[in-house]
Amino acid sequence: MIQLKGVVKEYGNAKNKEVTRAVDGIDLEINQGEFIALLGPSGCGKTTTLMMIAGLLKATKGEILFDGKVVNQMEPKDRNIGMVFQSYALYPHLKVIDNIAFPLREKKVPKAEAYEKAKNIAKKLQIENLLNRKPAQLSGGQQQRVAMARALVKEPQILLLDEPMSNLDARLKLDLRDEIRKLQREIGVTTIIVTHDQEEALAISDRVAVLDAGKIQQYDTPYNLYHKPKNLFIANFLGTPPMNIVEGHVEEQDGRQVFAAEGVRYMLPQNREVAKEHIGCRVAIGLRPNDIRICESTENTIPVRIELVEQLGAEQLIKAKPLAGDHIIRIVAENEMKLKAGETVSIRILENKFHLFNLERNGINILS
Ligand SMILES: Nc1ncnc2c1ncn2[C@@H]1O[C@H](COP(=O)(O)OP(=O)(O)OP(=O)(O)O)[C@@H](O)[C@H]1O
Ligand SMILES: [Mg+2]
Repeated sequence: MIQLKGVVKEYGNAKNKEVTRAVDGIDLEINQGEFIALLGPSGCGKTTTLMMIAGLLKATKGEILFDGKVVNQMEPKDRNIGMVFQSYALYPHLKVIDNIAFPLREKKVPKAEAYEKAKNIAKKLQIENLLNRKPAQLSGGQQQRVAMARALVKEPQILLLDEPMSNLDARLKLDLRDEIRKLQREIGVTTIIVTHDQEEALAISDRVAVLDAGKIQQYDTPYNLYHKPKNLFIANFLGTPPMNIVEGHVEEQDGRQVFAAEGVRYMLPQNREVAKEHIGCRVAIGLRPNDIRICESTENTIPVRIELVEQLGAEQLIKAKPLAGDHIIRIVAENEMKLKAGETVSIRILENKFHLFNLERNGINILS
C-alpha cells in the first residue's frame, strides 16, 4: 500500500525568494494492486506528486509510506518503481530492444533472457517490429511505447505513468489503454497514471483523485465522481458535453421547495429537498445534458427556445435558452426527434438526476 500523509511541495526560487506551492497538503491511499489516476488541469501538481512518490523530488512537508514504512529518505533506485515520464527519455545510442532490456541488464539478467522478456512486452505494446531501430527513428507515440515497455519489463512493484499515451492517435490509445490495464492485472502492479484526459482516467482506473491547485478535490470511483460529485469543481470538470450550471436560489412556496433562477422555476421532488440552512443562499443547479428531456407537458417544466441543433452522430446536441433567461442550456436528444432552431419546447429535469451546489460554501453538493 502507498500512503501520502499531508504531503506538501514548495518550489523555491533562490533569486527572488518566490515560493510556488505546487502540492498543498495531499492525503492519499493506494491499495496493493490498485490502479488509480491523478487527474486535473495543467499545473495542478500531478507530475510533482508522482515525482515525490518516485523519490525524484523531496517532499517539503508530510510523509510518504510504502507498506507502512516511511520512504521520504529512500533513494529512487531502492523503491522498485517502473516509471514513464512525461518527457520519455530513451537512451539515444541504444536500439529499441536494448532500451527495453536495459533495466534487466542493469540487474545482471543474462542477455538471452533479458531479450526474451523485452520481446514479450514489445509484442503486447505493438512495437515488436521496431526492435532494431534507434529512438531517433521512431515517432513520438512509438517512443512512448518503448518507454512503457522499459518500465514494465522488470516487473516493478509500483508503476508510475505520467501522460503515457499523450502522443498516440485515438484508436491506438484505446487499444493500448486495454493492453496496459490487462498487463497491470497480470503483474498485479500498483499503478498510478497521471492524465488530464478525463475519459481515459475514468475508463482505466479503480479510483481517480481529481486535483485542483495542489489539493485533492475528490478521490473516488469513476462512478461516484460522475454521479455523486462532491462539489461544483468536480461536477464542472467531468463529463462531455459539460454539465449545465445555472445559478439561482431555493425558495419556499406553499410548503414546497422551488429552485428559481432567471427563466427557470423547478419544484424540487419532496425526497430531494435541501436542508433549511441553504434556503435563500446562492445555489447552482447542475444538470447533465443527458438528464434533461424535451417533452409536451407544461407542468414543472421549463419553456425554452432552441438556438442551435448540432449533430453528434448517435444523438443530437441542442443548445436552448429559457424564454425568460439569457443562459444556454445544453440538451442531448435522440436523433429521431425533429427539432429546429427557433422552435419553443418544454424541458423536463429527471427527478433524481439533478445536483444542487451551495455557492456560498465553496460549491459543496448539498444533495448527496
Ligand atoms: N522546478 C520547478 N520550479 C518551480 N515551479 C515549478 C517547478 N516544477 C513545477 N512547478 C510549478 O508547480 C506547479 C505544478 O506543476 P506540475 O508539473 O506538477 O503540474 P502538472 O499537474 O503535472 O501539469 P501538466 O498537466 O501541465 O503536466 C505548476 O504551477 C508549475 O509551474
Ligand atoms: Mg505534468
